[in-house]
Amino acid sequence: MKEKTEFISIKKAFEKKGSISVRGWIKRKRELKDKIFVLLRDETGEMQCIIESDKIEKKDFEELQKNSIEASIELKGKLKEDSRAPNDFELMVNESKIIGSSENFPIQKDLSEEFLLDVRHLWMRSSRMTSIMKIRSTMLYAVREFYKKENYFECSPAIITPNACEGGTTLFPLKYFGEQRFLSQSGQMYLEVMIFALGKVFSLTPSFRAEKSKTARHLTEYWHLEGECAWMNMDDQMGEIEKMVSFICQKIAKENPVELKQLGRDPKDLEAIRVPFSRISYDEAIDVLEKKYKTKIPWGTDLSIKEEKILSEDEKIPFFIYDYPTAIKAFYAKETADPKKCFSFDLIGPEGYGELCTGGQREDVNENMLKKLKKEKIPLENYNWYLDLRKYGSVPHSGFGIGIERLLRWICKLDSIKETIPFPRTMNRSYP
Ligand code: 4AD
Ligand code: MG
Repeated sequence: MKEKTEFISIKKAFEKKGSISVRGWIKRKRELKDKIFVLLRDETGEMQCIIESDKIEKKDFEELQKNSIEASIELKGKLKEDSRAPNDFELMVNESKIIGSSENFPIQKDLSEEFLLDVRHLWMRSSRMTSIMKIRSTMLYAVREFYKKENYFECSPAIITPNACEGGTTLFPLKYFGEQRFLSQSGQMYLEVMIFALGKVFSLTPSFRAEKSKTARHLTEYWHLEGECAWMNMDDQMGEIEKMVSFICQKIAKENPVELKQLGRDPKDLEAIRVPFSRISYDEAIDVLEKKYKTKIPWGTDLSIKEEKILSEDEKIPFFIYDYPTAIKAFYAKETADPKKCFSFDLIGPEGYGELCTGGQREDVNENMLKKLKKEKIPLENYNWYLDLRKYGSVPHSGFGIGIERLLRWICKLDSIKETIPFPRTMNRSYP
């Protein structure tokens, strides 16, 4: 029986040196008459490999000649020192076997955004997407590590829901055995249930918004990190979020310096994301804008994407804007002593990135909540359970929601949010 080949990753192969077996995909290929240069890639790195026609079997050499980039291949050989090669070593191949052929790989020169979205299933292998996905993975692990350390419980809110948490305009309706239901816009209301049992909770779920606007920061399906804490006011909630964002930035700076640099983000930018973040009130934000615009902004208007950009483009660290006008925030926001304002905040990404997160203290008094629901003409029948939370042992509490893709877009210094998720969904795109 033939001995089983022990394949190792490209990274391990460079550590081991000598005779090795590796496998992966052909990233680049250059042919001379009797020699083929292959740049082999796997998830750990890239290796230059040299295949000479007289060193391997004829049929294997011909097979390699026939194949284009992205064929999968197994290679055996000896690593030889060469200062011109990546990692100072190249593989002198003595056995080559194509595992999955590839001829005329479709991604060659046309790199328009739409084309790359059409072939996203293949473009995912690019070094750019690979880097972003590695950073995304670090982020998701870091989130859970942080909340474990801070004694939060992870929860799983429902995705099929009768409630509009964030208003009717962006709801995705769902026919549910004859009833009207929706895809969740936010797990917040369910997390509010969980705090009565678990104190501090978080969830990481898909959220859905039927966004008709085409912007660089909106998806119709995104991953939503949300938290909710009993006995917590707005100020302390902002403190929780800045710790979490700083923790994630430190982790990514440490674990993904190579990927960050490839994307044009200096890891030092992320190392500098330390608490505390600065906090300005909505009123102060309007003052700053009026000075910049040299014109009056009516109090109570929501900040547009452009205004958030103006406020944040010279900043290096995210910052909070708090005490927004009650009228522009959701029904559940608790009013301050001045009822025109509520305990609601946004975390604004620096360098012009704008809103990363929204959170605040929730209305915890039943009569006030009832009034708000009625004022916004929200039909009560599906909200009785939510009102029960205010009837039986209500507590002051607060929470937040942050879009994983928004956070990644800023951390990776990307223009479009579509690069942050494997299969972006927008109004015009639900394929592949
Ligand atoms: O500001 P939003 O709508 O707030 C809520 O959903 C609250 N219920 C969250 C909570 O308190 N539990 O959404 C929260 C965050 C935004 O700040 C943004 O980062 C992200 O979710 N987000 C989107 N990300 C990508 N595409 C979209 N269409 C998004 N809409 C919101
Ligand atoms: Mg918001």
